[in-house]
Amino acid sequence: MPALVLLGAQWGDEGKGKATDLLGGSVDYVVRYQGGNNAGHTVVVGDQKYALHLLPSGILSPTCTPVIGNGVVVDPSVLLSELSGLNERGVDTSKLLISGNAHIITPYHVSMDKVAERFLGKRKIGTTGRGIGPTYADKINRVGIRVQDLYDESILTQKVEAALEVKNQMLTKLYNRRAIAADQVVEELLGYAEQLRPYVADTVLVLNQALEDDKVVLFEGGQGTLLDIDHGTYPFVTSSNPTAGGACTGSGVGPTKISRVIGILKAYTTRVGAGPFPTELFDEDGEALRRIGGERGVTTGRDRRCGWFDAVIARYATRVNGLTDFFLTKLDVLTGWEQIPVCVAYEIDGKRVEELPYSQSDFHHAKPIYETLPGWSEDITKAKSFSDLPKNAQNYVKALEEMSGAPISAIGVGPGRDETIEINSFL
Ligand code: GDP
Ligand code: IMO
Ligand code: MG
Repeated sequence: MPALVLLGAQWGDEGKGKATDLLGGSVDYVVRYQGGNNAGHTVVVGDQKYALHLLPSGILSPTCTPVIGNGVVVDPSVLLSELSGLNERGVDTSKLLISGNAHIITPYHVSMDKVAERFLGKRKIGTTGRGIGPTYADKINRVGIRVQDLYDESILTQKVEAALEVKNQMLTKLYNRRAIAADQVVEELLGYAEQLRPYVADTVLVLNQALEDDKVVLFEGGQGTLLDIDHGTYPFVTSSNPTAGGACTGSGVGPTKISRVIGILKAYTTRVGAGPFPTELFDEDGEALRRIGGERGVTTGRDRRCGWFDAVIARYATRVNGLTDFFLTKLDVLTGWEQIPVCVAYEIDGKRVEELPYSQSDFHHAKPIYETLPGWSEDITKAKSFSDLPKNAQNYVKALEEMSGAPISAIGVGPGRDETIEINSFL
């Protein structure tokens, strides 16, 4: 049985956590392949609500093995507190596996993230301040600390000292901060080593053997396509590859094993942090989307910027990820609007443009060209099949599907597991 990828098709917060959790009961492994605790995935099971940051959303399904792949950056203190928080609520987390090659977010990465943002002033990215960018920068610079380094004190000490030699110069001379003591960092990291040891594994071997044994592996993306370091709205992006290729590099599973790539797509658009967003609304419609959709960040508590659906972005996500399906979420939030505008193309310098422009400056002043679709007022949260939806809601979904370039195989009509309309089975 093959592997599936489930990823964000917009700027994150599309409802990946809910979608992963929904499939978690039917798959054997759920794997995070990039990002870290910048992610905030909300899962609602019955009357229980869980906010997950680093752990794969499959952790809530008892039959599923959650895996943190080599492409993830791990803050051990966050991981351990997330695990104990779940244990206190009766969730068994003992099956978790963590790649020894995953990189560690240390306290100095968190400091560097925060001071770098402050230094950028008006040009700041609006990062989550969790140390994500600096940790990936060290990985690429080959001065990072990996999970396996926690088990060799001498190597760990050498690596932390080498990294801090440069960083302390920056912190003290450029950013006017206090230096960080290497021995304190080493001591803190060693303190996590034994607590993490039971989970550390050769996850590449485990996952490939599982696939050979016909097990089902689901890759859960963090963030979204437009936040991808290569394919997103650079520099207003995160420092990893949420797009489909990241599932391979971030896990050590080859692309020939992946049979399905599902894009999670919100029925409108949101974004957190800075950067271009053509359909952003600054009026009462934007305020209403935020209020009705509960659009507030799970990680930072920031209000999300809200706007209408953007089909140009959805088409782009289909292309760069090779999407086979969409899971359309939060359709219920649009209930009550008489007319719903949908962006079908952009106007750039007086010209109609159908596809995402490759030039950053063009995208920065792209104006949305809207088509308006008739809305509906009936409550759709109890709909169980496509035909239960009011005609105008059906037409809205069909129109989005046609514009976006891949079939919509499921529709979210509420945050709960069962508030989902399944059209084509994912498994
Ligand atoms: P993620 O980061 O992609 O996992 O998404 P977040 O959890 O950050 O944000 C999505 C929010 O929408 C969460 O509060 C979910 O509980 C909620 N949600 C997911 N799907 C639906 C849906 O179909 N309808 C409604 N009303 N809420 C949803
Ligand atoms: P989930 O997985 C939405 C955004 C930040 C910022 C940019 C870079 O819940 O969809 P970073 O801390 O990653 O260096 O910040 O990326 N960002 C997200 N926005 N959802 C997320 O995760 C995000 N993770 C990072 O707001 O603009
Ligand atoms: Mg989120």
